[in-house]
Amino acid sequence: MWRRLSFFCPKSSLRLAKDGISCKEKNPFITFVLGGPGSGKGTQCEKIVENFGFTHLSAGDLLRKEISSNSENGAMILDTIKEGKIVPSNVTVILIKKAIESSKNYKFLIDGFPRSDENRIAFEQIIGVEPDIVLFFDCPEEEMVKRVLSRNQGRVDDNIETIKKRLQVFHSLNLPVINHYLERGKLHKINAVGTVEEIFENVRPIFAAYKKIMK
Ligand code: ADP
Ligand code: C5P
Ligand code: MG
Repeated sequence: MWRRLSFFCPKSSLRLAKDGISCKEKNPFITFVLGGPGSGKGTQCEKIVENFGFTHLSAGDLLRKEISSNSENGAMILDTIKEGKIVPSNVTVILIKKAIESSKNYKFLIDGFPRSDENRIAFEQIIGVEPDIVLFFDCPEEEMVKRVLSRNQGRVDDNIETIKKRLQVFHSLNLPVINHYLERGKLHKINAVGTVEEIFENVRPIFAAYKKIMK
């Protein structure tokens, strides 16, 4: 029923009627933001938030918050992040689900997710919605390594050993997800080299095209 409703109603009018209810009924406008470590996902998300009023949910930030809140999964998440591996999908998807459901907004940037086909399938099964937009920030490895090593946020995984592991995981697990959305015609590939402003000028038209239905 909600799918038929969503066909006739702009997402925003559904949002007004349905704040505080389940993800699926809320029918959020979802953008997945993909790219290797240091490709500039978080930086570009800030620009999209400023210009288009999205709520930014970084999967990595949600996981790091779990660590600092001493949750029962905290130690396991920390070990996984230190190894540059992927946290079990149900843990990450439940954090994203809670964040969507507790937000008054209906437009979300889900940054650093899905990192694997398993992530993607868990999202489809638990949250039950497909992304409206998928962005992929395409950045050469050398540039990503340089940016991560100069990020200076005190992250346990921003060191050369873990970066090498994260890049391996990116190639083996993230690229299949990117190809999945490419094959379905949902992928917007952005050249992630240039200044933050130059890159954002290639991002802007993607959201501008959706602005009418998002208002
Ligand atoms: P990600 O979220 O993809 O890991 P970030 O947005 O955190 O990447 O960016 C990684 C580092 O690179 C940060 O220190 C950020 O300030 C810097 N950065 C982001 N975009 C650019 C850019 N276009 N050129 C140079 N440095 C950048
Ligand atoms: O995206 P970000 O660089 O903040 O992610 C940091 C780490 O968090 C990843 O290397 C990975 O260990 C973990 N992560 C995850 N699953 C995701 C996103 C991040 O396991 N979907
Ligand atoms: Mg980030």
